Amino acid sequence: MTAGATMPDETLSNLMHETRRFAPPADLVAAANVTAAAYDESAADQEAFWATQARRLDWDTDFTRVLDWDNPPFAKWFTGGRINAAYNCVDRHVAAGRGDQVALHFVGEPGDTRDVTYAQLQDEVSQAANALAALGVTTGDRVAIYLPMIPEAVIAMLACARLGAPHTVVFGGFSSDALASRITDCGAKVVITADGGYRRGAPSALKPAVDEARAKAADRDGHRVERVLVVRRTGQEVAWDDDVDVWWHGAVASASTEHQCEFFDAEHPLFVMYTSGTTGKPKGILHTTGGYLVGAAYTHHAVFDLKPETDVYWCTADIGWITGHSYITYGPLANGVTQVIYEGTPDSPHKGRWWEIIQQYGVTIFYTAPTAIRTFMKWGRDIPGEFDLSSLRLLGSVGEPINPEAYVWYRNVIGGDRTPVVDTWWQTETGMIMISPLPGVTHGKPGSAMKALPGVGAEVVDENGVPVPNGSGGYLVLTQPWPSMLRTLWGDDDRFVETYWSRFAEQGYYFAGDGAKKDEDGDIWVLGRVDDVMNVSGHRLSTTEIESALVSHPSVAEAAVVGAADETTGQAVCAFVILRESAATGGDVVTELRNHVAKEIGAIAKPRQIMIVPELPKTRSGKIMRRLLRDVAENRKVGDTTTLADSSIMDLISAGQATSTED
Ligand code: PRX
Repeated sequence: MTAGATMPDETLSNLMHETRRFAPPADLVAAANVTAAAYDESAADQEAFWATQARRLDWDTDFTRVLDWDNPPFAKWFTGGRINAAYNCVDRHVAAGRGDQVALHFVGEPGDTRDVTYAQLQDEVSQAANALAALGVTTGDRVAIYLPMIPEAVIAMLACARLGAPHTVVFGGFSSDALASRITDCGAKVVITADGGYRRGAPSALKPAVDEARAKAADRDGHRVERVLVVRRTGQEVAWDDDVDVWWHGAVASASTEHQCEFFDAEHPLFVMYTSGTTGKPKGILHTTGGYLVGAAYTHHAVFDLKPETDVYWCTADIGWITGHSYITYGPLANGVTQVIYEGTPDSPHKGRWWEIIQQYGVTIFYTAPTAIRTFMKWGRDIPGEFDLSSLRLLGSVGEPINPEAYVWYRNVIGGDRTPVVDTWWQTETGMIMISPLPGVTHGKPGSAMKALPGVGAEVVDENGVPVPNGSGGYLVLTQPWPSMLRTLWGDDDRFVETYWSRFAEQGYYFAGDGAKKDEDGDIWVLGRVDDVMNVSGHRLSTTEIESALVSHPSVAEAAVVGAADETTGQAVCAFVILRESAATGGDVVTELRNHVAKEIGAIAKPRQIMIVPELPKTRSGKIMRRLLRDVAENRKVGDTTTLADSSIMDLISAGQATSTED
């Protein structure tokens, strides 16, 4: 498939007509953390540039080499250096006399709040590290974290980092199956969870999914989880196994607040984050310690122009995604920020909840996703209009392309037409923001992520790896290694090389999987995925994974899934399903299948629409032509069907639309 095949018409036409420009505010320019000189500095000597950035961290032993690229694509950064990520995010701020500064303003969905200072964070991270050590966790052991957005989520991650035990955080919305496969794949010894969290005004259980996942990991995969550490958040009844389950408030609260941290090799694994690929099996993206932390800390400082003494920062992501790792836990805390974390949904108990929080805490920097912005647009400007948002000075966007209209609305309604908007392009794999405006340098262009940050090499190339001229589209590639790049896929070096480095092997480029366009000024417009991966509400979902979930239902013979444009979520999951002859037909089967997908993967993967069809469009070699299904899902005239083995099939499918449902 070519990049052009997935370029939405709307984005293209906006691109052609977009002439609005927003200059950076004068006061921001005058005091900007990073100026245009950084581009020249990094272009002159990329390694020297990153060595300078590495100095914003405390190293126990200095590194002797900045980049070891002797065995590409397996990079080593800051070799010889020894460092502890948790020490850098917490202890050093306390040692510098900033222990009384609030690190986390926690806001629970029911309205409970809690401020955690850096000194308190140091105590709790140390206690949690001692408690985990007492449960048998040692350096190199993997720990799975399945928690709501509560301070313990950040504390748990840092406690693992302190011990050198790589964590894998699994989004609390994922099902027990998804949790089990991640636990098994990385061989987690301990799971940290909670009885539940609050979601849309009600407690929502988490512990039962862990119990199920533990049983599945054992029965299905032969992997034994040794202990489960449980935070009490909602007070719900939970099933309890005395041999395995331990209460956080018992084990952590009674542990010592003294913990001597060790320093680890810069390349020691920090965490594994699972993300969807084009095959059914999720990919365990491995990030290591030194380079990752340098990348997260520098980009947070540069892109958000962070002033740790005066800013109040809020990123609305969940720690279950990479954004929560790099721009809640590691980048911001390494920079000594004061930040808000919020447990719940934007509409609970009312649709102005986020704006109320901004007003209450005087949030200055706000980072969210286009899907949320579009939802607020739908709800109307009167809702944010009721709150005082004048503290805001910078807005960020991440997760999918932001439409120019959403960008302008965000800047105007939320930012009072004062605030720059930084559209940040990056991925789980890149670990840090790669393409973004610099708020004190760049004239913002609605809809464009603009250009590669200092120290980063990005290009848009054609099929042959040749850069396209301005005004043309192609494949987005990264042309040089960067400190927070993924090091491999957990346990699967071959898949790592094949997935990211084989498409442009000759040039040695990392292929990101996205299509992009360079405008007449050479600025980059990211246009979305070119592979069979969808982007729903800023989260990557693989078509294959959802197809596998559908086919695992006894009524389903075959399934094909496509992403169709959706006004709010960017893309929505649309499934085409052939039922087995033995299956009972009727309206209910669709609901049953949607719930089945939610159970297998999580509610986020639930198809918006399922069409029961008699056949699927296939080429003579048996490959499903998703392009044609996308036409149906998006209510377009079906495209060229000449390569179909049986071209009458599309008529049958189009006729079968009557059996689809939506909610
Ligand atoms: O397609 C791009 C899209 O999200 C993908 C990465 O997804 P994930 O690893 O889940 O990380 C999301 C948060 C970093 C990318 O390949 N994407 C992310 N940010 C943008 C974007 N597309 C356009 N513009 C963005 N700013």
